[in-house]
Amino acid sequence: MPMQVDFLVVGSGIAGLTFATKAARFGRVLVLTKKRKADSSTNYAQGGIAAVFGENDARKYHVQDTIRVGEGLCNKEMVAIMVRDGPKLVQELHSMGCRFSMNSNGKFNLAQEGGHSRRRIVHAKDYTGQEIERVLLEGAKKAGVNITENEIALDIVIQNGECVGIYYLDADTRQIDVILANATILATGGIGQVYQHTTNPPIATGDGIAMAYRVGAKIANMEFVQFHPTAVYNIKIDGRSFLISEAIRGEGGVLKTKAGAPFMKKYSPAGNLAPRDVVARACLTEMLYANTKYVLLDVSHLEADFIKNRFPTIYETCLNWGIDITREPIPVVPAAHYSCGGISVNKWAESSIPRMFALGECSCTGVHGANRLASNSLLEAMVFASRAAARVNKISDIKITGPTRIEKTTKIGPNLIFQIKEIMDENVGLIRSEKKLHDAKTAIDGFYKLFEEGIHITNAESRNTTVIAKLVIDSALNRKESRGLHYMLEYPRKRRNFMKDTITRISKQEKKIKKTLPTNRKRDGTRRN
Ligand code: FAD
Ligand code: SIN
Repeated sequence: MPMQVDFLVVGSGIAGLTFATKAARFGRVLVLTKKRKADSSTNYAQGGIAAVFGENDARKYHVQDTIRVGEGLCNKEMVAIMVRDGPKLVQELHSMGCRFSMNSNGKFNLAQEGGHSRRRIVHAKDYTGQEIERVLLEGAKKAGVNITENEIALDIVIQNGECVGIYYLDADTRQIDVILANATILATGGIGQVYQHTTNPPIATGDGIAMAYRVGAKIANMEFVQFHPTAVYNIKIDGRSFLISEAIRGEGGVLKTKAGAPFMKKYSPAGNLAPRDVVARACLTEMLYANTKYVLLDVSHLEADFIKNRFPTIYETCLNWGIDITREPIPVVPAAHYSCGGISVNKWAESSIPRMFALGECSCTGVHGANRLASNSLLEAMVFASRAAARVNKISDIKITGPTRIEKTTKIGPNLIFQIKEIMDENVGLIRSEKKLHDAKTAIDGFYKLFEEGIHITNAESRNTTVIAKLVIDSALNRKESRGLHYMLEYPRKRRNFMKDTITRISKQEKKIKKTLPTNRKRDGTRRN
């Protein structure tokens, strides 16, 4: 028999680690992660976590802001749960040793970001994610969680309609194997790498969503890809565009045209602190209008010492590239940043496949609707990971009834990732049209056919990004209106009959599930020869 654990977590960002740390008291937890432990979007989060702590704040305001920005598609029950449970979990992180920025009165220093009616962003200067990742990795270690690096989940193992584990590739040995589990928790993060210009690190290839789609899980709202308005123009670190946090506008940063004219008041009374979809489209519109490759983000009017102390990562990183942000504006462009859609889950983070949970950015809880409110992502991930951990306690043991050996299941896939990125940037960006979406669909559907059967060990990420591109395009073509992050030239307004989620499921013809299990490992985890 293959190796078996109680809870198998795929991903070591905030979602996977929060779950793992809390579920460890109920059983044996194994976390697989495809690169190093801290390689996650979580590690790069800058702005912070939204939670109600301010004296002039209340839950109802956070709920209202989330729902207003979500443009009619937020699941209100889920929003209420997130806003209610968030502050306790932020406090918990603090008690675990997370060094959030504090005021002299011992309270959290609260930042301001777009779309929030109150200051409510708890942060650790501009490296909040790194601090959270550090503390959660320590917490997981203390809780006895086993984390194995360089192991890439490839596909879900299904038996009698239930998820009973995953196939994975050991990136060092190139061996494909299976791990069985009573509950499998997908926490694989976002999809940004399906675009050329993204703030997301290379791990963000939508693997969890693609795997879930292949086994028939319900996938929701993939058209709502959030573009962050302010990534530094033309400079990349390890495949990602460097983000300039929205919190910098919260402290007075101003967006200007290349010629130096502030423009955000033309687009929204909230100016530079309008919701992210509005700001990103405004930046793009100004770039198109003036035929420039970027706009400017100016903080040079703020106190230099304040900038250096409050935003040390941004200050130092830009300085390394020759931009002294205390003296000159930063050239910025919108870049793909966050997926509001994902694996559809209920309030316990259970997907539509029994024994399979989805957490964090790869899930769709419904809290973000058509546009995510800034800094609600880390919050959502923590809240629903905690709920899932409370739930798995009740899960029964699996009984494997099928064969445990398979013939060769591995295939070699083509590497299409660069072509996919170009197609997505060109046709499926901030401003969409039927024609461009159809062009993209023709190309991606062709690629998709190349990956139909088998488990692909070479270029598994290319296979997954093909699925993600397909899901985003198909969902975008379905939504014949403009709402939140999804803007269609032909349908510039919201339409009442589209006030619902876009649900996608693999068709019967496409679905080819492997029903047998490979065994290269013994039950105790050691390898067979
Ligand atoms: P991640 O943190 O991305 O972790 C995913 C994990 O899954 C990784 O460990 C990865 O290696 C692993 N993985 C993926 N595929 C596989 C596979 N096939 N097999 C094995 N392992 C796999 N949100 C906020 O709320 N506030 C912010 O200030 C903020 N700032 C951000 C700044 C940046 C630059 C970025 C990119 C995002 C930011 N976000 C912010 C969004 C937020 O950081 C992410 O949505 C959140 O961290 C996602 O957490 P996660 O645990 O779901 O995924
Ligand atoms: C940022 O710091 O601007 C990112 C915040 C977020 O994605 O919520």
